[in-house]
Amino acid sequence: MNESVLTGQEKLIFKLRELFSSAGYKRFRLSKFEDYDLYSGFKDFLVSEDIISFTDIGGALKALKPDVTLSIVRSAKPALGRTEKLFYDETIYRPADGSFKEMMQCGLECIGDIDQSCVLEVLKLAASSLAEVSADYVLRISQPDIITDAIRGLKLIPEKETELLKLIEQKNISGLKAFSDKLAEDGKDLGTIADLAFLCGDPDDVLGAVKALGLWNEKTQQLKALCDGMKDSGLSGGLRIDLSAGCTTKYYSGIVFKGYVSGVPKEVLSGGRYDALAARMGKNCGAIGFAVYLDALERTVDARGDASMDCAADANMLRIALPKGRLGEKVYKMMAAAGYECPDAVSENRKLIFVNEKKGVSYFWVKPSDVAVYVERGAADLGVCGKDILMEHSPAVYELLDLKTGICRMAVAAKADFADDPGRPLTVATKFENIAAKYYASLGRDIDIIRLNGSIELAPLLGLSDVIVDIVETGTTLRENGLKEREKIADISARLIANKASYEFKGKAAARLTEALGKQVQND
Ligand code: PRP
Repeated sequence: MNESVLTGQEKLIFKLRELFSSAGYKRFRLSKFEDYDLYSGFKDFLVSEDIISFTDIGGALKALKPDVTLSIVRSAKPALGRTEKLFYDETIYRPADGSFKEMMQCGLECIGDIDQSCVLEVLKLAASSLAEVSADYVLRISQPDIITDAIRGLKLIPEKETELLKLIEQKNISGLKAFSDKLAEDGKDLGTIADLAFLCGDPDDVLGAVKALGLWNEKTQQLKALCDGMKDSGLSGGLRIDLSAGCTTKYYSGIVFKGYVSGVPKEVLSGGRYDALAARMGKNCGAIGFAVYLDALERTVDARGDASMDCAADANMLRIALPKGRLGEKVYKMMAAAGYECPDAVSENRKLIFVNEKKGVSYFWVKPSDVAVYVERGAADLGVCGKDILMEHSPAVYELLDLKTGICRMAVAAKADFADDPGRPLTVATKFENIAAKYYASLGRDIDIIRLNGSIELAPLLGLSDVIVDIVETGTTLRENGLKEREKIADISARLIANKASYEFKGKAAARLTEALGKQVQND
């Protein structure tokens, strides 16, 4: 066959099929349609609760598959002591960026008697799958139980436990410090748990640090055995451990892993052990698997005509998105004082990108509300944006540092004589719809949201809304318009954020910059 007629994605599918079947996995074909009931009972295992459903000719409620694993586990019937090994390449339907998307996944599932050698085999196949895409890949493994077991000792209420796990997963240094200070007020000590959030990198280094923290146990031992197994197979080049990864996921129980390739701004492989799902489906066995997200790779593999890529050129350059305006200029000064100067960036000219190769940084100025988009989509490795944007849009980024500048608050305000009538919904004008909705949901108050883009203070003055949810800095705008602050929703300040995928490749440089910038925050 003339291979030139195949797209890069199709070539990759064939290579993965070959890889999986030569390891003894059997191809599993699925229908595009599935009984809706399968998902309604397992929504907490799905990436999103939004599913395309329709009524079949016979009247049965059906769905376009949002997931492959659930269908495979349901049909698997491994004999006692045996393991079913299956692979697939299928289209799934999930919401992304506000609408449903067709996505191509290629992966494998191993269901039955799962021992450590089986886990190792799956990890090896995950590494080999990534190697088919690029030599410059990272397979990042984690065992979330190590952190969750350590946290259990603190005896926190479930909400606090979730808050702590989120801070750890985000590698949020300032958030963890504030959490630790609050805990100390209650006579509790976070101890070495915060350190675990930053244990990521080379497996030997991470496991050595875990040992030094006195946290060596059966689970860390198992992790070490897996890393040794990968080393023996010559597949440890791209292997990393990140103990903070996956500690808030509900899907997996036990080891979890994600794969990244240089130059692709999001994960391209995701997997782990999911015995809890198998148990909920009435299977008395273990399960492990992974999926390669071919859509995440589409631009990469097709643009080059084959599945290889080389992004080494800017491998050590940190690309930083700064918010245009006073806040950005202040942050740039902090960056410069931390040793990451690039004088051109603040000179009067019409250039958009400023590079200081010696310092390994490039800066670009973007609209403040766009910084998180640049970082989440990987056009920037790091960026600086307000906590208000992070709360409103929840971008999938690491929140590394509170820069303690751009300080203001998110608050509810109304006319001074406003009295709430609980007998009718409260009308709320805001550009922060999600923050407002979440805040009032937590109070159990029914609201009607009116979305505005600016000059929010006008809304109650002209009778458009009862209250507003908006940023208050000095309070001048409210005062001069006869409005009064009623409740504070959250403190806001500028945060240093990072793209999750690029952190896997430039993590050391990003951590160095974060540390140096952290010192400037303390100096201020
Ligand atoms: C923000 C905010 C308030 C004002 C608060 O508006 O929306 O209107 O600043 O600051 P103060 O408490 O110091 O008076 P921004 O200037 O960003 O313009 P906008 O009205 O277009 O949102």
